[in-house]
Amino acid sequence: MSVTLGIDIGTSGTKTLAIDEAGNVLGSSSAEYPCEHPRPGWSEQDPELWWEATKTTVAAVLKKAGLKPSDVAGVGLSGQMHGSVFLDEAGSVIRPALLWNDQRTAAECAEIERRAGGKEALIRMVANPALTGFTAPKLLWLRNHEPRSWDRVRQVLLPKDYIRYRLTGTFATEVSDASGTLLLDVAKRNWSRELLGLLEIDPDLLPPCYESFEVSGQVSALGASGTGLAEGTPVVGGGGDQAAGAVGNGIVRPGAVSATMGTSGVVFAHTHEVGFDPLGRLHRFCHAVPGAWHVMGVVLAAGGSLQWYRNQLAQAEIDAAKAKGIDPYFLLSDQAAKVGPGAEGLFFLPYLTGERTPHMNPDAKGAWVGLTVRHGRSHLVRSVMEGATYAMRDSLELIKEMGASIEQIRLSGGGARNPLWRQIQADIYGQDVHMLESTEGPAFGVALLAQVGAGGFSSVPEACDATIRLTECTKVDEKARAFYNRAYPIYRQLYDDLHGSFSAISSLVNSSDS
Ligand code: XUL
Repeated sequence: MSVTLGIDIGTSGTKTLAIDEAGNVLGSSSAEYPCEHPRPGWSEQDPELWWEATKTTVAAVLKKAGLKPSDVAGVGLSGQMHGSVFLDEAGSVIRPALLWNDQRTAAECAEIERRAGGKEALIRMVANPALTGFTAPKLLWLRNHEPRSWDRVRQVLLPKDYIRYRLTGTFATEVSDASGTLLLDVAKRNWSRELLGLLEIDPDLLPPCYESFEVSGQVSALGASGTGLAEGTPVVGGGGDQAAGAVGNGIVRPGAVSATMGTSGVVFAHTHEVGFDPLGRLHRFCHAVPGAWHVMGVVLAAGGSLQWYRNQLAQAEIDAAKAKGIDPYFLLSDQAAKVGPGAEGLFFLPYLTGERTPHMNPDAKGAWVGLTVRHGRSHLVRSVMEGATYAMRDSLELIKEMGASIEQIRLSGGGARNPLWRQIQADIYGQDVHMLESTEGPAFGVALLAQVGAGGFSSVPEACDATIRLTECTKVDEKARAFYNRAYPIYRQLYDDLHGSFSAISSLVNSSDS
């Protein structure tokens, strides 16, 4: 039996699991940590938290699954994308990492476009436009705002690659996560010397870039003593959480797409070529499958919108759920089910942390539109679920516009576990939606990549075929679909109507900050 481990360094916690070559999960463990927001729009984390969580969860999984260190044939790493870990000469962390949802770099994005010779020229080099969450603008931000720290930087790593460094002592990354730095020539699957030159960033700051299944290093004596793994255990490239999750959902050929309703919401499709869109509306990244790419739409606050609603406006439900020993989301979903599609004319725009796809606007804001005295908590919560789902449909529409065929939609993330939200997704997407047997997400995907790296399978699609099984299908309700088809254009129009006000509000807030 060939056992591999998958470790996913998420934003709210780290999850580790062990699988066998049939894809059975032998044990899993999670550890949570906080995220700091030192100023509005900023989002940071101390990388040491990830390492502590890695040590705890790996040790817990080995114990739960009854594994000896020598039983583990390989380890795969996944993680939140786009974060920047800055290391000095000694390999020590210089400052907290800036995360994927940090919005402080608007000026640096403009600087990148200018240095690259315009948006289109930039997209030709790295397949994507400059977005505030990406890594390259974070490097420029450090250079512009904390020059003393910048002078000490000798290596820049993505979150999961920092854990690779702690596990193996080697600096390395892989193509899927590296695509989200904005410094990768996505078509050639290697660093863009051209853009690095224009941005005056020393290429030596970046680690070597592997394919996702390739072995990038072995667990060191130090890594072994921290985690309980055996020294010499191979660690494969792994993947950014979205590509890794897609491997775990079997999105490794054209036809099936995944819709993942986590904190962020992601619609993900496999492609055979990078493609080019001068507007850069979808992310175009390398896939964790050699020779393949993917397009992806990202909704920054999908499940995050419901989480915000729960935390800010549903204390009564939180208390009631606690008293009953159940998850507050059950109560919220029961409330939402009390009203029909459209929440009696109430729309929610889920742009609580700005938006990426399709608006690419860090100043976008959340909004309820259509409120009347008839509306109560049930309408509010249903409209939040619907708003996040309309935002996901925006990405599906763009993927369809590219000419990709969407034969099957596979759901994952917290939103897939909720039957009402599954139905809302089927009805708003206008297509039946499917669930998968394994709901373990990116950690499962990279454990599969480690199976390939350890020689258990000859390719990533072969590993997926052997281990991934579909379960429940939620059928479209035709009446609801027809309703949502009429409501969706109204949702679309609302952003256009409010977009000027969003910018004005940002200017107002920024001027009162200074
Ligand atoms: C993908 C993205 C998020 C993060 C956090 O582009 O920004 O999905 O990876 O999960």
